[in-house]
Amino acid sequence: MDVQRGQWSSKLGFIFAAAGSAIGLGNIWRFPYVVGENGGAAFVLIYIVFVIIIGLPYMIAELALGRSTHKNPVGAISAIIPGSIWRWVGVLGVLTGVGILSFYGVIAGWTFGYIIKMAVGKIGAFSEFVSNPWIVLLLFAFFMLLTTLIVYGGVERGIERWSKILMPVLFVLLIGLIIYSNSLEGSGRGLTFYLQPDFSKITGKVMLAALGQAFFSMSLGMGLMITYGSYVSRKDNIVSSAFYIALFDTMIAIMAGLIIFPALFAMGESPSAGPSLVFVVFPKLFTQMPGGLAVGTFFFLLLSVAALTSTISLLEVPVAYLVDEKKVSRKKIVWVVAAFTFIVGIPSALSQGATEFFSNFALLPERLSPVDFLSHMSFIFGDFSLAFGALLLSLFVGWVWGGSKAANEIDTGSPFFSRTRSIWIFMIRYFVPLVVFLILLNLFGIFD
Ligand code: PHE
Repeated sequence: MDVQRGQWSSKLGFIFAAAGSAIGLGNIWRFPYVVGENGGAAFVLIYIVFVIIIGLPYMIAELALGRSTHKNPVGAISAIIPGSIWRWVGVLGVLTGVGILSFYGVIAGWTFGYIIKMAVGKIGAFSEFVSNPWIVLLLFAFFMLLTTLIVYGGVERGIERWSKILMPVLFVLLIGLIIYSNSLEGSGRGLTFYLQPDFSKITGKVMLAALGQAFFSMSLGMGLMITYGSYVSRKDNIVSSAFYIALFDTMIAIMAGLIIFPALFAMGESPSAGPSLVFVVFPKLFTQMPGGLAVGTFFFLLLSVAALTSTISLLEVPVAYLVDEKKVSRKKIVWVVAAFTFIVGIPSALSQGATEFFSNFALLPERLSPVDFLSHMSFIFGDFSLAFGALLLSLFVGWVWGGSKAANEIDTGSPFFSRTRSIWIFMIRYFVPLVVFLILLNLFGIFD
């Protein structure tokens, strides 16, 4: 059965695919602007703490559930306890995947647009670019098409191959850009903003943003790691895999900040520009750098590939669910899900100036600072749903499946796990759900 279902070709193949899902626009586009909006270094510090004490133990739980059941999120839950309402937690995850992909694909489309802009050397103003409805829709459609074609091919052929070569290249390019950006005059203040914490800036809202960003960036809370874990062999070490995925993911995000903030302060831009931040700062950096247009073309190309390995993973979750549970043909359903997601994404695509209605969209309370339709989607699916899903899934693994049964699964293939076993059980049963719950309470403005 396992063989038919498909498996990663090797342990490294899995780590690269999972890291490919984790590393994406979340690290390079979202992380810097969320840091900028939430006051800088103090946010970064809390973010790192959450990655270690919440993200890592929680990721291990999702992977264990996936590997043990060999199923998509809904199927995995039903395999542990058939016919219970818990399966709706899996359904929530599948819907969250569609919700995230619907706006993520839009940003990925912009990234692709910037490859062309850099290559032809006509950069222009970002605000003009995103307010052109046809261009953004076309780029969004193109990116969805690309994603669909790859997911169509199945996990091992489609996903693995792409991640392996290009992610290391991205890493090297980022190092080069860090050096360049920090050599600019006036960049020092950027480093201070980014690395010297001002603890008075920590509020309930900042904590919620840091937690949401940690889940978003590591692809947690919607069952992606359950789905990817379902293709992992029992010989593989779940604990060390999770460690490496979290490490690579966090490193790339931190590196993006090390480029953006020094550059931004050197250019006199504001750190709290929101979603446009990266698309304004990076092109400016490239226009003033010697040979910058070539570097910029290459940068946006790699960023598009990073985004692609994430959109693939986002599409894979609903597809795996429908193929497993509803017994539909993979080749057909991929198109249906992608088309549906595209339709859901149209308002997001038109929310950056193309239409007045979606650009000034205020449904959620102002305290949560959404300004347009896309930020609503990003908050609802990218922060709230993921944190809420993680809360429910950690309770599920810790109490319904049972901490020690889950720990037995993790044990298989992870020789050193036995020493930290009881700590992990404590984390997944009490610590993770409690912390996530307390932070979510702040949605109601309790700690501000
Ligand atoms: N982690 C991805 C990124 O940072 C986004 C993502 C979220 C992918 C959730 C899958 C699931 O770009």
